[in-house]
Amino acid sequence: MPGGLPGPVWDPAGYLRFAGERGRPFVELVARIAAESPATVVDLGCGEGALTASLAQRWPGARITGVDSSDTMLAAAAAHAVPGQVEFVAGDVREWQPSGPVDVLVTNAVLQWVPGHEELLARWAGRLAPGGWLAVQVPGNFDFPTHRILGELCRSPRWAARLADVPRGTGAVLEPSGYYDVLTGAGLTTDAWETTYLHVLTGTDPVVDWVRSTQLRPVLAQLGKDDGAAFTAAYAAAVREAYPPRPDGTTLLPFRRIFAVGSRPY
Ligand SMILES: C[S@@+](CC[C@H](N)C(=O)[O-])C[C@H]1O[C@@H](n2cnc3c(N)ncnc32)[C@H](O)[C@@H]1O
Repeated sequence: MPGGLPGPVWDPAGYLRFAGERGRPFVELVARIAAESPATVVDLGCGEGALTASLAQRWPGARITGVDSSDTMLAAAAAHAVPGQVEFVAGDVREWQPSGPVDVLVTNAVLQWVPGHEELLARWAGRLAPGGWLAVQVPGNFDFPTHRILGELCRSPRWAARLADVPRGTGAVLEPSGYYDVLTGAGLTTDAWETTYLHVLTGTDPVVDWVRSTQLRPVLAQLGKDDGAAFTAAYAAAVREAYPPRPDGTTLLPFRRIFAVGSRPY
């Protein structure tokens, strides 16, 4: 069960509904990579591939490989493949081994699903070519109401027996200083930071829709249709109180993200 999740959990279409909001951290992460003409670029946990493929515009001479363990995400990613330039392969990031030194390694919004990923980061740093770059972004919002409410509901008497132990991608992520220490400890010159985006969402229960394409999916996968609907209704009611719709019809969703970019000296 790569990534601690069953394969069908990921729904590319649901994930893409917020493509603009979800893409921005990737763009801001990659903007901090100063590689000029890398030959080998790898995107670990590439998802549905559009962001991976966008790297070909930045580095047209690079061979770009996206790696993911989800069949549904890889099926969507196939549409972004470019022969000889952008390819997508099935694999678990925990076991991934490059065939040679890597010039740029990106992993965006993935490692929250991979407990103990500090060791992976150190290992990947060791596979960078001289002058190579490693860039990581993870959500840092696991104590925000979206996740707190979901956790409380899963552990509540009605649902605990079936849901208390479902992995929800809320594995421990480090603070920016933690990633700074891991990457500098692995010999990289490192820049780490955090940003809280204020996403302006529209529609009915947009925060629930946001979570539905990530943390809510493994939960609903455990429940049948009726129980899933009952659970979602209870979650939506609590989320609506925490993120009330505003008079203009928008709903504001603060979303903290943690970034670290390191480069191996020549
Ligand atoms: C939130 S999505 C992010 C996708 C993409 N990086 C992006 O920024 O849009 C997380 C992705 O990580 C993948 N993933 C999670 N654990 C994984 C693992 N152990 N090995 C490979 N892929 C994994 C999932 O299949 C999913 O496509």
